[in-house]
Amino acid sequence: MTESSAHHLRAGGTSLVLDCEGDRLPRVLHWGPDLGELGAEDLAHLRLAAAQGPRAAGPDRPVPLALLAEQSAGWMGTPGLTGHRAGADFSTAFTVTGIRRNASTEAAVAETLTITAADRDAALELGLEVQMLVSGLVRMRAAVTNTGPGIFDLHSLDLNLPVPLEADEILDLTGWWGHERIQQRHAFTHGTHLRESRRARELDAAVVMAAGRHGFSWRSGELRAMHVGWSGNARTYAERLNHAVGMLAGGELLLAGEIRLGASETYQGPWIYYSHGDGLDESAARVHDYLRARAQHPRTARPVQLNVWEAVYFDHDLATLKRLADIAASLGVERYVLDDGWFGSRRDDSSGLGDWVVSPDVWPDGLGPIIDHVHDLGMEFGLWFEPEMVNPDSDLARAHPEWILAARPDRWPPEARHQQVLNLTIPEAYAHVRDQMLAILRTYRIEYLKWDFNRDLIEAGTQSTGQASIHEQTLAAYRLMDELIAAQPGLEIESCSSGGGRIDLGILDRCVRIWASDVTDPLERQRIEAGTSLLLPPEMIGSHVASPISHQTGRTTTIDFRAGTAFFSHMGIEWDLTGASEDELARLGEWIAAHQEHRDLLHTGTVVHGDHPDDAFWLHGVVAKDHREAIYAFASVHSSRHTTPGQVRLPGLEPDRRYRVTQLLTDTAGRARRGSSTAWWDDGLTLTGRALGTVGLQMPNLSPEQQVVLHVTTT
Ligand code: GLA
Repeated sequence: MTESSAHHLRAGGTSLVLDCEGDRLPRVLHWGPDLGELGAEDLAHLRLAAAQGPRAAGPDRPVPLALLAEQSAGWMGTPGLTGHRAGADFSTAFTVTGIRRNASTEAAVAETLTITAADRDAALELGLEVQMLVSGLVRMRAAVTNTGPGIFDLHSLDLNLPVPLEADEILDLTGWWGHERIQQRHAFTHGTHLRESRRARELDAAVVMAAGRHGFSWRSGELRAMHVGWSGNARTYAERLNHAVGMLAGGELLLAGEIRLGASETYQGPWIYYSHGDGLDESAARVHDYLRARAQHPRTARPVQLNVWEAVYFDHDLATLKRLADIAASLGVERYVLDDGWFGSRRDDSSGLGDWVVSPDVWPDGLGPIIDHVHDLGMEFGLWFEPEMVNPDSDLARAHPEWILAARPDRWPPEARHQQVLNLTIPEAYAHVRDQMLAILRTYRIEYLKWDFNRDLIEAGTQSTGQASIHEQTLAAYRLMDELIAAQPGLEIESCSSGGGRIDLGILDRCVRIWASDVTDPLERQRIEAGTSLLLPPEMIGSHVASPISHQTGRTTTIDFRAGTAFFSHMGIEWDLTGASEDELARLGEWIAAHQEHRDLLHTGTVVHGDHPDDAFWLHGVVAKDHREAIYAFASVHSSRHTTPGQVRLPGLEPDRRYRVTQLLTDTAGRARRGSSTAWWDDGLTLTGRALGTVGLQMPNLSPEQQVVLHVTTT
């Protein structure tokens, strides 16, 4: 096998070996753990090892699955490209016209393989980019160009990577408002496990789909995982046919007639990310390391922020908002975010959305008084927008009803939160919202935007043409963010969508933080953030300390449980601090100081989770990349059937190092401590990483909704 007929891409513990022999699209000989150096003979024999014999009642010469699956190459499952040209050309047969392999200048990218192919009969050209990222993540995207006359109607353009027969279980995510990223598992049997996101939001989307050996857990079990990095509609599926081939596949979900390629027009699909690992932590770490290596990843300490939403909701009163700023600053808060309600007629959620002009009713002197006050206190200022949305009861919607995304002028989508979506594919609508936002950004010193997106895109078309518009709308939203960041260098954007409804890697090319959920109850949050950590590192996950009684669940929790939960992520506060007791404020200040002391570790280290055999107990933590330090949280989430949690293992430490384990900010109420029977609690203990990881240590007896935080340092 010659160098040009096989490509072995290696980085970060991953090998991807592509068989490029002949002129059919590249087939995968291996994707997964690093195979080490492979010579020409190894590659040739890997190909021999992979070659299938004839199958009963199947094609005489079976062809292995290619990156883009084609029926013409013998694939009987879901084809990678579907579409037609006036009813013909329903199936493609691409032949490769060129392969280029380039080292990359981008820090996060090791190398890129660019493959061009053509189907001359169907008059289509295909461009495939396959990148090996330094962290061992693989990402791929496809573009298709219509090289013929007339229209090619594109229905789908999916890519895939194969998974071995050992992968007999699928894990993916689902959820709803306030309960984002619930993990669900299924047997990976013959057939297709398809997750479609048809609302251009991710509250209930798969987000991550993993396939691995039955029972794979945070710490062990071979698995492979994928994510579609796109904020519009998406498809993610695991498919296995009766001849043992399995794949993880996906791409953008296109609506009927959404992509009609005219002569020489190109459709570019989104990046699809693929990771693998021995356990979910290892697979997630490849995504985290990639995100951290990108040029746009925030390099500065993540400022602790106060968001005023749960403190005041729509009730904007300057004196109260200033008082909140004073208290926040006295606790060490570094950024203050003014949420919804500052513009137009927006006194509740029924009107004003889309009119991005400071309300003279509630802000007679403009936003200057609060922004100056915040800056004088040494904090940054952030402001809430929902740029893609509009209330029908707004000046904008009254002036331009034709700017609302709808299948027909006389049939708007059902309202959700009293709102509709502004059609940003209409240049005048786009320019209007951009210019209103720029005017605010130019008038005031604003360092941060909270960018909300509070309804589903359904029946989202352009009224004048009747054409589905989610693809173009998604690109326009990206463009708007890009333009604002370019106009205001250093501007940071948070992605929010009724909480955690927009967290994909497409939006996160532009945003530095997501609001993981509208639910700030720490018990719910720990589970939501565990699911979110399958994709995102803690510094990108916004987590806030809220009031003692949760506004969403009514559950009462201690300041230590609340603050000790937000402590690990991009920490913030969302609580009417004017009503907090002196003790609570003092304790919150201690947690903020501890976060600021340790956030370098928390926001650069490797995220780990424990596989505690009793689901009443959760353990998660962050281990420094040099393994010199770690912080863990051990929490009780419901009553256990055991009298004690037993000896709990601390994962991720270096086996031969000796570590000192002490508690960090013990529960002041002493509740955790009173029940504790651990001999090491007061003075700590010292053990090797091996002993801590395989024997573990007794944890205090915790009641539900209590947690302890442990600090582990090398001796
Ligand atoms: C959404 C967000 C909240 C808040 C409100 C404001 O629900 O998720 O955090 O910003 O909108 O209306």
